[in-house]
Amino acid sequence: MAPGDLEKALCGLDIYRAQNVLVGFEGAEDAGVYQLSDELAVVTTVDFFTPIVDDPYRYGQIAAANSLSDIYAMGATPVCALNIVAFPSRNTDLAILRDILRGGADKLREAKVSLLGGHSVEDAEIKYGLAVVGAVHPERLIRNSEAVVGDRLLLTKPLGTGIINTALKKGLVSPGAAAAVEQTMATLNRDAAAIMKNYPVHACTDVTGFGLLGHLAELIENSGVGACLNLEAIPTFPETLRLAAKAVPGGARHNRQFRESMVKLEPGIGEEYVNILYDPQTSGGLLIAVAAEAATALLTALHSGGVNAAAIIGEITAAGGEIIVRRH
Ligand code: CO
Ligand code: CO
Repeated sequence: MAPGDLEKALCGLDIYRAQNVLVGFEGAEDAGVYQLSDELAVVTTVDFFTPIVDDPYRYGQIAAANSLSDIYAMGATPVCALNIVAFPSRNTDLAILRDILRGGADKLREAKVSLLGGHSVEDAEIKYGLAVVGAVHPERLIRNSEAVVGDRLLLTKPLGTGIINTALKKGLVSPGAAAAVEQTMATLNRDAAAIMKNYPVHACTDVTGFGLLGHLAELIENSGVGACLNLEAIPTFPETLRLAAKAVPGGARHNRQFRESMVKLEPGIGEEYVNILYDPQTSGGLLIAVAAEAATALLTALHSGGVNAAAIIGEITAAGGEIIVRRH
């Protein structure tokens, strides 16, 4: 669905909300949060999608990594999960479903998340994902609404999964570049999240379907601040720039229509860069707002912790609701 559609459908509905709800659906946060006690809150999220790669096992891994990501983005620890499956079992080999579920199960094992069950439906189109429950101390929750002017913005994975996957269908991507994107989409945001907890991080979200600018827009709107991005510093997958003019996913256009009134591009920035900034990501990286004086130390820790693509890509400004993109 296009950005904003779900909000329109939910608008005006009388949604029950107990006092214990710390984060509900209305705040455009990554996950909902319900406080159980002074020391414990549960964080819940659900995500599923159609196959994004040909290999069923890889698809299962990516879908699971993507589903867990919202929990990590909130500073929480995922603890248990439920499978969500749509599968055309009447005319498709069950071995394919088994491979998808094995990919998901292996990712959950890596993340030390217990699979407790799930639900499946017969459907013409394969879909897979997970509902995930995480745990966090209520005071250690990291929202997307508390970024502070002067904070540095870090991104932990390269951009371009939507462009590369669109180009892949047109046969325009080298096998090496395709493999790099698959590998990164299947990588958990766990390590990046564990490292960021040791630094004065004020806000975090993960970059997924709305693209970098869409998720940054949510973060600055919720925080009542603005942002400035340094285009040159933003990491992208190999071949993304070359393909960004000819393989634009439909989602990137929707993302742009929805957010371009907030974005000011420095003159001379080409369309291909704009497409990358709005490119919908699958299992994208964390976008972190950290106190300026700790930004370099966090970046160094991310690199030595194996989060090699991490980069400082910009900063939080006082110009509320405005994102300025500079060339460098
Ligand atoms: Co998210
Ligand atoms: Co999500």
